[in-house]
Amino acid sequence: MCDDVPLAAMAEVAGTPLHVYSGVLLHTRVRELDAAFAAYPHDLHYAIKANATLAVVREIRSQGAHADANSGGEIDVALRAGFTPDQIVFTGVGKTHDELARAVTMGLKAINAESPGEMERIDAIATAYSTRVRVALRINPDVDAGSHPHISTGLRANKFGMTPAQAHSMALAMAARDHLHVVGLHVHVGSQITSADPLRRGAAAIADLARVLAADGIPLEHLDVGGGLGIAYEPGQAVLSVDDYAAAVLPVVRPTGLRLILEPGRWIAAPAGVLLTRVVDMKVQADGRWFVIVDAGMTDLLRPALYGAWHTIEAVTPREGTPIACDVVGPVCESSDTLGRGRELPPVAVGDLLAVRDTGAYGAIMASNYNRRPIAAEALVDGSGWRLVRRRQTVADMLQWDE
Ligand SMILES: Cc1ncc(COP(=O)(O)O)c(C=O)c1O
Repeated sequence: MCDDVPLAAMAEVAGTPLHVYSGVLLHTRVRELDAAFAAYPHDLHYAIKANATLAVVREIRSQGAHADANSGGEIDVALRAGFTPDQIVFTGVGKTHDELARAVTMGLKAINAESPGEMERIDAIATAYSTRVRVALRINPDVDAGSHPHISTGLRANKFGMTPAQAHSMALAMAARDHLHVVGLHVHVGSQITSADPLRRGAAAIADLARVLAADGIPLEHLDVGGGLGIAYEPGQAVLSVDDYAAAVLPVVRPTGLRLILEPGRWIAAPAGVLLTRVVDMKVQADGRWFVIVDAGMTDLLRPALYGAWHTIEAVTPREGTPIACDVVGPVCESSDTLGRGRELPPVAVGDLLAVRDTGAYGAIMASNYNRRPIAAEALVDGSGWRLVRRRQTVADMLQWDE
């Protein structure tokens, strides 16, 4: 079931692969995170990159969250979902001139600047438009997030942000400019973080710099500690609770008195989604284990292929009998197209429905048309039943840009 709706019924009507989201859980997660920080002035800016499906973003907005956009496209998602420009922060390495020009003229809450060069470009655009733009400086604190190297962003070797020393001298130089208003500092050390230390150290890096800037006569408005809070993908996996997270960050930020911004993505959206997929073939391996071949693959859920990520896989209607040892694999022509390696499932047969758990973040949004596979449909369960919130792509949709 997803809330009170049988998954099998949704798959019957909408087909598979199908991403299903629980509106109730999206709401609960936003409220739980918000409550953990209730003792301190803060704003949750949902990281749209985690799941940019409009209906999902609207559900999250309905609970009072604001938005973190990572591209011009995500700014459009935020606007269509109903956020006002002053509720949007704009992050991202490699913002183009056009993206920056639009952001500058829109009056966003802050553009999180990634480099001294980008600060100069923002200043030039703001000067050309005779406007004053709100900027936060993204710091790279050289902190190891302890998560997968592909989702660790806070080490000196990573492409993100500038050193505290660079940010300090930029802030001093920029303070005298008419068209830039340095309003905050930003840090994001990585994603799927499961211990307090990297989050605390990231926050400390910007809190320390904020104190230095205050002494220099440059007062700020906010500290943005990014996202990163991890979830338990594997049964029994140790993670931080939202209260642990607040206990790591608040003592560091509180002495500055600055408003706190958080950019959570995964923690809110991941557990609120499952990917439904049907078994299309079964093949026995040399060692007696099975390949359970399903109709969802790396084109629908890239994380296992990209990061070796674990997602729990269950039969929606488990059959009686001796469990089978298996690898659950997709139909894509790549050996990395494996959704779950070394699993145990109840006996399964062609046509059975499986649910891949915790796919609400970095799932549907990472879909591709590789092997010319149309992109899966997405459904939302809310208090009044369920509905498709993104229709299944057709082959005609997929080919519409080809000559
Ligand atoms: C700048 C920034 N903020 C927020 C997030 C969201 O992170 P998470 O989904 O781990 O909360 C990311 C994702 O990597 C990010 O790059």
